[in-house]
Amino acid sequence: MLRRVNFYSICFAFGLSVLLILAGSRYADNTYYRPSIESRRNIRNFLKVEDGEEPYTQHIPTMQYDGSPDIKKLLEKTRSKIKYQLSKYNFTESGVHTLEDLVIESGGRPLQSLIISTWRSGTTFLGEILNAIPGTYYHYEPLLKYGIIQIRGPPESEQALSTIRAMLKCNYDGLEDYFKYGSKHSNQFSHNTRLWDHCKYKKELCYDAEFTSRLCKLFPFHTMKVVRLRLRLIQEILDDKELNVKVILLIRDPRGVMQSRQHRNFCQPAPDCWEPSLVCADMISDYVAAGRIQQQYPDSLLVLRYEELALKPNITTHRILKFLRLSATQSIDEFLQSHTNVEVAGVSSTFRVSRDVPFRWKNALDFTYVDEIQMACKEAMLLWGYKLANNETHMKSKDFNPLDDYTISQ
Ligand SMILES: *[C@@H]1O[C@H](CO)[C@@H](O)[C@H](O)[C@H]1NC(C)=O
Ligand SMILES: *[C@@H]1O[C@H](CO)[C@@H](O)[C@H](O)[C@H]1NC(C)=O
Ligand SMILES: *[C@@H]1O[C@H](CO)[C@@H](O)[C@H](O)[C@H]1NC(C)=O
Repeated sequence: MLRRVNFYSICFAFGLSVLLILAGSRYADNTYYRPSIESRRNIRNFLKVEDGEEPYTQHIPTMQYDGSPDIKKLLEKTRSKIKYQLSKYNFTESGVHTLEDLVIESGGRPLQSLIISTWRSGTTFLGEILNAIPGTYYHYEPLLKYGIIQIRGPPESEQALSTIRAMLKCNYDGLEDYFKYGSKHSNQFSHNTRLWDHCKYKKELCYDAEFTSRLCKLFPFHTMKVVRLRLRLIQEILDDKELNVKVILLIRDPRGVMQSRQHRNFCQPAPDCWEPSLVCADMISDYVAAGRIQQQYPDSLLVLRYEELALKPNITTHRILKFLRLSATQSIDEFLQSHTNVEVAGVSSTFRVSRDVPFRWKNALDFTYVDEIQMACKEAMLLWGYKLANNETHMKSKDFNPLDDYTISQ
């Protein structure tokens, strides 16, 4: 196992160096472009695997902590940093008057978003867009420890939902399993950059329920992504009046999902990840749940297809921010600029979600396999507006646009 991990780390590191060299040489003669430390980090972030089922290169601490951390001091520093970074933020757009109105420590209620999706559907990208907003506490994926399964009901759903609720309330007491998993898989914490800022120097801080609870309570914006729990179970979270959560359901064409999963060694042979019939049964279940939830909580659910986000990142991102009542920050523009085709001030960047990412499956998959997926997914694809390819020529043709309109019927 260890040898395999090492092998993959080396491959990953090698791939990354080649990418950086390529990026560097491509822009070497462009006097306008200097890849900053930040954009290098962004490249790394983007290449990071979706759920950390695979080896993960850790951030390398640039300095060591001398002595034991003074928790009071760390919290105070974080408090001032948030205040400073949000000094120009327009809180009226978030429906409140001041920062304190959104901070649990000051008796406020944070704006919370919950991304519900499944593996390889663009949650890493969406999560990192939202994490680009200063003052965001990114809970990442709370259910990593369950492995490669979908939770569709009891008995697993009870504990899973109670974990999610506790975390959204910044109450980490009693989450021993969560911390235990994280102590061996640091990717559970490292995506939460504002937590990781502290515990990359001293790992124990990440497993400390008191520290993480207190830190969490300082942040005005919380976001969480969940790829292992189906939408119908989220009703319980929306019914919880103590919480103030908005949900984004992120859906992707099953052909794109399956193509992307072929390149991830965590998926096969887990049936919940690898069987098109199960993947698409979940898509139908999510469709039905979306209709019901939109009727009951019309302002609390946004349904989104990954393809829309990839093809129109700027427009879609602003739509998401509006739904979440988040004010567009400069950091969002910068993130989009460095990760997508959106051009800001004419400066181009090194890494992009190019327009063909969502449709890569058209040329990468055999029609036989696509046909197999389509047979298992006919109903799900019809509901979510994905057109069937009739044959190999049709599938590979540039004129074949797999996207159709769809509506959520209630
Ligand atoms: C803040 O947002 C509100 C609502 O969108 C707007 O009316 C107001 O002009 C904004 N204030 C500033 C300072 O931009
Ligand atoms: C992105 O969209 C927003 C809102 O629709 C718009 O104000 C802004 O100019 C757009 N930016 C770019 C670079 O297209
Ligand atoms: C493939 O499908 C297209 C679009 O439906 C159709 O026009 C074409 O005749 C089909 N080709 C073959 C070889 O069946």
